Amino acid sequence: MQKTLTLFDTTLGKKAALALSGLVLYGFVIAHMLGNLQVFLGPETFNAYAAGIKGLPALLWTERIVVGSAVIVHLSMMIALYQRSAAARPVAYHRVTSAATSYASATMKFTGPMLLCYLVFHILHFTAPGLALGEYEHSHTDVYGNFVNAFQLPWVTLVYCTANLFLGLHLYHGAWSLLQTLGLSHPRYNALRAAVSRTIALGITAGNVAMPLGVMFGIID
Ligand code: HEM
Repeated sequence: MQKTLTLFDTTLGKKAALALSGLVLYGFVIAHMLGNLQVFLGPETFNAYAAGIKGLPALLWTERIVVGSAVIVHLSMMIALYQRSAAARPVAYHRVTSAATSYASATMKFTGPMLLCYLVFHILHFTAPGLALGEYEHSHTDVYGNFVNAFQLPWVTLVYCTANLFLGLHLYHGAWSLLQTLGLSHPRYNALRAAVSRTIALGITAGNVAMPLGVMFGIID
């Protein structure tokens, strides 16, 4: 018996799922950055914010399930689309793609796996089990202390800053493709699309990089 074709079996359906899961992850990254920026307001505010989230387990676990599912969907759609395009082209041929398109897709292929590695490291480091990589004990209540202690190590600061620069590139191309999927691909709008994508990606990168650098330069201590 022949299997019924669902929307997810089509390239368009997979691209839509990739875009939608990307949008969810975008929302998480912005909310996470805005929450974390409260570290500049001092230990009381930041620890109260972290305790507030942990005090709402239903909200925390809903967020974890939604974000975790979005990561799984995003990855599996990416792999499926990649396999589909490779299968459709068993023998490599010279494709006529613009330099910008091949640069963007090469960037996504490189930054995507890098970000996955960063995410695993980051969760092991700050959340579960919470790895103290320097001369301190990880605390489950003093999140501010973990933060300040973690970025005393220059290599940790370097890893976070580098990963967040890659995240910025990924978000730039992600926003560009997302706006295209939403139908905003027209020579008349392309400059605006690039400007919007660049502004959002730069804002998120600046916010994320400011935190480890803030510790390094003694602004957060
Ligand atoms: C320099 C940038 C970042 C800093 C300083 C940072 C900081 C933190 C801290 C302190 C926690 C633990 C919070 C707690 O124990 O209450 C955390 C958790 C987490 N971070 Fe980040 N983060 C950064 C960037 C990112 C990025 C870019 C992502 C995703 C791409 C991310 C994903 C997560 C996730 C998934 C968790 C676990 C949340 C949970 O417990 O459900 N973080 N982060």
